[in-house]
Parts: sequence; structure tokens; C-alpha cells
Amino acid sequence: MHLDGNLRGLKTSDRKALERTFRRRTAPEQVVSPELARHLTEISRRIGRQVGVLLGRDGTVRNVVVGDAGQLTLPDVGRLRGGVGRFRGLRLVHTHLKGEPLSADDLNDLALLRLDLVAMVEVLADGLPGRMELAHLAPFPELDEEVLAVGDENGLPHDQGASPADAVDPFVRIQAPDVHRLDFDFEASIRALEAELRRVAGGGARTGQERALVVGVQEDDEHFAETLELVRSAGVEIAGTSRQKRRRVHPRTVVGRGKLQSIVLDSMRRGATVVIFDIDLKPAQGRAFEDATGLKAIDRTQLILDVFAQRAKSRDGKLQVELAQLKYSLPRLTRKDAGLSRLAGGIGGRGPGETQLEVGRRRIRDRIRALEKQIERLSKQRDVRRSRRRKEGVPVLSIVGYTNAGKSTLLNAMTRSEVAAADQLFMTLDPTSRRLRFPREGEVVITDTVGFISDLPPDLVTAFRATLEELEDADLLFHVADAADPRLETKVRAVESLLAELGIGDLPRLTVLNKADLVDEATLAELVRRYQGIAVSAVRRRGLRDLIAAAEAQLGRREPLLPSYPGEEAARGSKT
Ligand code: GTP
Repeated sequence: MHLDGNLRGLKTSDRKALERTFRRRTAPEQVVSPELARHLTEISRRIGRQVGVLLGRDGTVRNVVVGDAGQLTLPDVGRLRGGVGRFRGLRLVHTHLKGEPLSADDLNDLALLRLDLVAMVEVLADGLPGRMELAHLAPFPELDEEVLAVGDENGLPHDQGASPADAVDPFVRIQAPDVHRLDFDFEASIRALEAELRRVAGGGARTGQERALVVGVQEDDEHFAETLELVRSAGVEIAGTSRQKRRRVHPRTVVGRGKLQSIVLDSMRRGATVVIFDIDLKPAQGRAFEDATGLKAIDRTQLILDVFAQRAKSRDGKLQVELAQLKYSLPRLTRKDAGLSRLAGGIGGRGPGETQLEVGRRRIRDRIRALEKQIERLSKQRDVRRSRRRKEGVPVLSIVGYTNAGKSTLLNAMTRSEVAAADQLFMTLDPTSRRLRFPREGEVVITDTVGFISDLPPDLVTAFRATLEELEDADLLFHVADAADPRLETKVRAVESLLAELGIGDLPRLTVLNKADLVDEATLAELVRRYQGIAVSAVRRRGLRDLIAAAEAQLGRREPLLPSYPGEEAARGSKT
């Protein structure tokens, strides 16, 4: 039982009356009992301020809040986490001294706090309750993706100047001439609404699988498409998308207030538990967004790290990703400090205490140091391996390519194909290298690499670079591209420029147009011509012979690794 708000200068008798509010009961099916409504309007009239109550589902008064003549500020009711398929279980019933309609602030509280409902009761001159208006979240009109994309800095999505798509009101509003004539079964309605929310959320609500609302704050469509692809790669279900076509990112909360509201409403409607942004967020921004919306915020770096974490196959790659993740999390752990006191004790808002936070940070730093040591050790082992290969004169063939192009599938297909006889793990430590036997060339080592992603955040480039160090030793690169990808051209260019950046732009390479099974003959022929590539289907094991033949032709042209090998020089020399 909490009495909050603007209690300044109230008479003892008024305070007492406010405290008596807690005794009033409302039946579960009523929005507010007529007696409670009358109690509120009477006090409101006497003190000239708005008075509100937060009612639980059982009809008990949980909070009493006093505002001023024009508005009322709700106390912190804590964050609601993982709230798929349910509302807060609290509704706001409050007085409006002049019977003004529900305000933008009222609706914002409804949305951001996920209240069951907000209702206003008009205060008549004699202190009796007059007109009533209530609003709750609308049950799921088939919303267009762009509907929620509008909304400006300070206004709500329905302010004038909004686009026609905004005509869809996300709220159901009900009016009644007085509290006795309100025809609305609260209990049944909220149950039906929650059932509908759960239906929309589908299995996600039950299995706890993450469903994301992907929010684009950059104007670039290509960039947004890429973000969606990454989200899918990360195995996260996309509950909905929302673009914000503004040039400026809100410095504190990433998006403005109206947009915050529409994001919360949209996430509820679509059963999303997390919001993924197509940009990087500053630690404080992510925090402010989460505080304002109760939704988990994921930024681009985190998303990419997540994709890498799931995909990194080599030991080294895994360590690098973990290291990058920890470094990313350090400043974000710190940021919780500020919000700690405010959140402590709130619903779902219990954060770690100061000491725990310190322990957490120290542990992370320790782990970072340990990882750096391990990575250092691996790098030494790699040097040993390299020089051994060099001594043996075994040619090294490295597979590079955009993430999801099919590099690993190709490596597996080649290892198993009849042409490449020896299926032998090169190093148990590193599952991404295989030693094969080519028909003419004899033994070769094929290594797989981490998938490329364009616009890699700077922190990740470092991690990425280390795992690609080995490429410098390659005698030939297979640049694997997904022939069926509509963004093939962009991705091929992204990979090429990354190779140039790594200083290995001039290594001999073959463009491998993979997933040929998904492309028609004519298109494929055109792609082969354009990229001077070799078409294969790693899944169907088609085109592998051609690929190996082309690789051998290329390797045959390379400079002999160890000219002192008798016979080899002559054999190679004859081919060039
Ligand atoms: P990263 O680890 O992210 O770098 O991905 P990758 O390039 O190693 O791709 P991977 O081999 O994991 O393949 C990605 C997806 O493409 C998988 O679902 C494969 O089954 C599919 N795939 C690979 N090759 C082919 C192909 O020739 N045809 C078809 N239809 N699908 C393929």
C-alpha cells in the first residue's frame, strides 16, 4: 500500500481520506466500483488535484497517487520482463478535473508500463463522478510494417502530420456518460486480450525462444536488409520490423518518445521480447532504452558477436569471439550502477548489488586475461604448424567468403568426395583444417575461415583479423559466394575489399559460385561469365571435379615453395 505523488500541503483530513482509499474494493469484472470512483472525485474536488489508483486484477487498491490539476505522475512500478502474453496486472483509474479526454501522457503510461487499462473519471462541480473514458491496447489489426514507423520526437504516433498509415489506432477507447452506465466487463476483456497476445506470440511464449522486433534507424535499405539477414543467421525469430526514417538518432534513448511507445505496443502485439537495432548503441543509450521500455535491446555489434559465437568453428575463432563479447560487456556492466538504486526492489528490476557488480567485473577481467594468454599460445602453435607445412611444401588452400555462403559445406563435400581421397583431420585442435589428396597435386591442406560480414564494427575487425592471419600463407583462395543470393554482387565486393584490407588482395583466387542447385541454367551461365567463376553445389556435390581441376591448374602455376626440391622445380617449370 503506497500513497505517492504530490502530497504537499494537504490537510490531515485529506490525507486520512486518501489513506481510506485502500479499503475500497472493486469487483473483478468492474473497471472501478462506483463507490471508489465517487471517493476519488470527492477528494479530487476538495484538493483540486488529480487523484488516481492502481488496481490489481483482484480489485484491490495497490497504489494511490496524487497529481496536480492537470496531470499525475505514476510512481516507479518496476520493470516487467519477459512479459510476452500478459499485461502488468495493474490498471490506472484517475480523475480529470475538467473531464479532459485521456491525454498523450495517459496513453504513454498505458503503453510503456503495459498497464491493463487506463481510465479517467470526470470530476463534476459537486464532486460527483461524471463522464468516463477508458483505453486499452487494441487487439491486433493486421498491421502494416510501416504503421508503427512514424512518430516524432515529442508527439505520439497519432499527432497531426502523421502518415495515413497512422490511421490505425493502437488503442480501443470506450466512453460512458457515467460510471453506472459503463458497459465493459473488465475481467473477461483482459483475459481475451491476453489470450490473443499469446496466440500471436505463438510457440515463443511457451518455449521461451527469443522473438525480435527489428528496428531500423538508418535510412539505408541495403543496410537494413543485411541486419534482417544477420538476425535470421543468429537463429532469432523476427516478430516484426519497424523503420524510423529520421536522420538523427535520439541521443538518450535511441528513438524519440512517440517511437518508444509504438515499439512497446508493437512488441506486445507481436510477442517480441527483444528489440534489435541496426546500429551500435552507446552503453548508456541501450540502458536508457531498456529502462524506458522494459525490452531487451540488442545492437549491431552484439548481433554480429552472437552470429560469430554460433558459427566460429576453430578453437581460435571461438576464443576470439568470447574475448570480444567480454570486452563488449564490461562497460555495459558498469552502466547498471546508475540505475541501481531506482530499480532495486522493483518488479523484475532487482539488479546486482554494488559488491556483486565489482565481483562480476573482476571475474570478467580475469577471464579476459586468461583468454588473451590462450590466444597467444594458439598463435604460437599456429606458427609452428605453418613452418612445418612450409617445410613439407604442402600447398595451402583457404576458403573465404561471406557468412552463410556455404564454406563449411564445401569443405565437407570436398573432404568426402571421391576425387579427394584422404579424409584426414589435419589437427584435432582445429576442426577447420583438412588435409586432402588431389589427383595431380598430391597433398594439400584446405582451411575454412570465419564468415565475412560487411561494415564490421572496428572492435570486431581486430578479432577477425587475428583469425585470418593464416590466410597470408595460402597459396590459393577459394572465394565462395552464394549464387542464389540477391545480394551476391554486394557481398562479393565486400569480401574482396576485406581481402585487400588484410593485405592479401593479390593472392591467386578462384570464385566459387556455390548453391548452383538453386539457380536456373541461364542465370548461372551468366554469373560464371561475369565472375569468371566455377559453379558448384556443395550440397549436391556437383562441380567439385571441375573445382579441383581448376585449383590444380592454379597451384601448378604458383612459384615452387621450396625450389631445392629436386624434380619439383622442373615439373612446375614445364607448366608455366
Ligand atoms: P559461416 O559459418 O557463417 O561462414 O557459413 P558458411 O559459409 O560456412 O556456410 P555453411 O556451410 O554453414 O552453409 C550455410 C547454409 O547454406 C547451410 O544451410 C547449407 O546447408 C546451405 N548450403 C551450403 N551449400 C549449399 C548448396 O550447394 N546448395 C544449397 N541449396 N544450400 C547450400
